[in-house]
Amino acid sequence: MFNEERHLTSPIRWGMVGGGRGSEIGHAHRAAARRDGFFQLVAGAFDLDAERGREFGSNLGVAPERCYADYTTLFASEAAREDGLQAVSIATPNSTHYEITKAALEAGLHVVCEKPLTFSVAESETLKALAASKNRVLGVMYGYSGFPMLHQAREMVRRGDIGDVRVVNMQFAHGFHNTAVEESSPGAKWRMNPEVSGPTYVLGDIGTHCWQAMEMVTGLVPDELSCMRQSFIESRAPLEDNAHVMVKFKGGAVGTLWASAVNAGSMHQQKIRIVGSKASIEWWDEHPNQLKYEVQGQPAQLLDRGMGYLYGDNPGVCARIGGGHAEGFFESWANIYHRFALAMDAMERHDQAALDGLWYPDADAGISGNRLLECCVESADGGSAWVKF
Ligand code: NAI
Repeated sequence: MFNEERHLTSPIRWGMVGGGRGSEIGHAHRAAARRDGFFQLVAGAFDLDAERGREFGSNLGVAPERCYADYTTLFASEAAREDGLQAVSIATPNSTHYEITKAALEAGLHVVCEKPLTFSVAESETLKALAASKNRVLGVMYGYSGFPMLHQAREMVRRGDIGDVRVVNMQFAHGFHNTAVEESSPGAKWRMNPEVSGPTYVLGDIGTHCWQAMEMVTGLVPDELSCMRQSFIESRAPLEDNAHVMVKFKGGAVGTLWASAVNAGSMHQQKIRIVGSKASIEWWDEHPNQLKYEVQGQPAQLLDRGMGYLYGDNPGVCARIGGGHAEGFFESWANIYHRFALAMDAMERHDQAALDGLWYPDADAGISGNRLLECCVESADGGSAWVKF
């Protein structure tokens, strides 16, 4: 059973850019980072509105003089302190990720950046190279990838329990934007503005999550894809509020991805089903403690988190509480921040063996997400032509 006995010599001095009052995802970062005592929030540039950001940070317990007006001042001022920041999380709208991550890495900080990592493969490749040259972690906040049952799925595929992977169905299709909610929601509005959101809306906003889950669980390498996208709310064009992707993987497996914000009535519908030559497995983020395992010719099984029949002590299969208790989104995020902390610590100690044994969503996951988006746009805008990945 996991507990918080495992410590670093001292918590990583950590800050945030964005994630201020009223933001959608700021609290999830703070709750996850602080869960195991690996990170201590000491500074930030939390908000575009400097005064609101300072007040907000102070209310979180950050010293007022360490709540900065902008990220440039944050990085410069903290670099001048002996007890300055070691790591930063970036939870701002997509258009700012590249410049803020680049500045943070140049300032010698480990970075956790939100997805999609940048606007393009080229930008993300630049950040990956910069992180490597600075010996710094560049993590991408694919927070669902900390769910223990996805790691069980990964291990089952790796051990051949379902046979050869043939088909993967990916979807993340909610219904929250089936009308023009952006007219009264700033958080929705920027997502549908290409200057802030990037070349896609639903593909980048949610499609990248199930894409990353597919890569983590199956290890499949995409070969080519075809995409169809449209905006049912016309004012969202050229960005899509619904998209379908067909994928051919190297080695013969195939897949589909459905990303949608107009799936009326649906809460999330983030699911991944992996069909092998012997059996299939299926995971759904609305019931994340269970994994469906269906062997052809046998009754379906529902595997539960925290049970002895799961595979070994895979560090991804964190058992924070016994089976039967519902773990959820925050535990999944904490599992990812836990891995980020171990990676940052190992990187500073130049412990390559520890790094080799540690999976976390890294720059490559960010790059693959960007490649998915670039290929989808090229395909969809070219009449759903097949495009090499
Ligand atoms: P939001 O619009 O709700 O909040 C953005 C926050 O960043 C606000 O506090 C704003 O004042 C601040 N901000 C904006 N520009 C800034 C700058 N230059 N300096 C300092 N602060 C700045 O956005 P939301 O929904 O929280 O999304 C933020 C990012 O997180 C996006 O990239 C989004 O794709 C991603 N996201 C990821 C999720 C996940 O599951 N991993 C879930 C939701 C969002």
